[in-house]
Amino acid sequence: MNTIDRRTFLTASAASVPLLPALVSASSAIEPKRSAKGPMAISSANGMRAVTKAVEMMRSGSAPVDAVVHGVAIIESDPNDMSVGYGGIPNETGVVQLDSCAMDGPMHKAGAVAAIENIKNPAQVALKVLRRTDHVLLVGEGAKQFALAHGFKSEDLLTDRARAAWLKWKENLNPNDDWLDRDQHIEKDPRQALAEELGIPYHYGTIHCSALNANGDIGACTTTSGLSYKIPGRVGDSPIIGAGMFVQNEVGSAGATGRGESLIQSCGSFQIVQHMANGDHPTEACLKVLKWIADHTKRHDLLNDKGQPNFGATLYALRKDGVYGSATMRGGASFAVHDGTEARKERCAVLYE
Ligand code: GLY
Repeated sequence: MNTIDRRTFLTASAASVPLLPALVSASSAIEPKRSAKGPMAISSANGMRAVTKAVEMMRSGSAPVDAVVHGVAIIESDPNDMSVGYGGIPNETGVVQLDSCAMDGPMHKAGAVAAIENIKNPAQVALKVLRRTDHVLLVGEGAKQFALAHGFKSEDLLTDRARAAWLKWKENLNPNDDWLDRDQHIEKDPRQALAEELGIPYHYGTIHCSALNANGDIGACTTTSGLSYKIPGRVGDSPIIGAGMFVQNEVGSAGATGRGESLIQSCGSFQIVQHMANGDHPTEACLKVLKWIADHTKRHDLLNDKGQPNFGATLYALRKDGVYGSATMRGGASFAVHDGTEARKERCAVLYE
């Protein structure tokens, strides 16, 4: 389904975007990259163990969607990773609420859970929603009850380390909370600055993992504990199909980490896949969506004094032929890839140096 005509898009882009300097400076990252024949997977940088597990599982015959869900489970279950699952940073009231989704390319079926509590591996619950229901998204208590009905255990997900960070946050809380109360350009989110000053984590967390098997079938998932110290009930992009993840089996898959609000309001992952359908290299598709997000960020408090977004977002894309790419809003990020021969990290292309 090519919803965006390539010529129209490029003409519109050329009119609104003088000539993306970052697209030019990132051109080396746009060189086509091909995987070895056979299963492969890409992930956000925190997913080295996920891509390795996913490739192993696909080699043993697992479907790509099962492979990615079990790949990210390693990180979801790790109490030392504070961005997803057990050990994730809690919300404003000290409760860990998790978001996750999974999508099966051949069936074009998705499953997702949002703001689920007490379940360590929400991506596995998303997979159950995908396989065992006619629905796509279950939220909150309903998602938890569904998980319990399928034999998942209710557990306390708040580790002492995450609790200590949250307490420090609470003790130092001031106007820098999630309620909008400012209207000026700022270099850095004051909540981020406060967390840095306190030496505690503050992030949008998240692992995305996409996998391709030897038949050219694709599966993907994204999982997160979401924005640190968020307003209870806040749902990010990770469980939203088309925002934090999207698969179109005949084209490829895409996923996102970073500021979920920007990815929901851009349908970021859906846009990436449509750009690939229109012939863009995965890296180019990711850069175009980052530029789209930048062009549509209007609130002053989300822009620095150069008029650029002051938040982070990193996008990942995997094409059906094994070509892949990733791009980030601002310098320094990497992503994980297992190309069928080894797992390694590669640098993301960058929109703003
Ligand atoms: N990207 C994760 C979140 O915003 O919750």
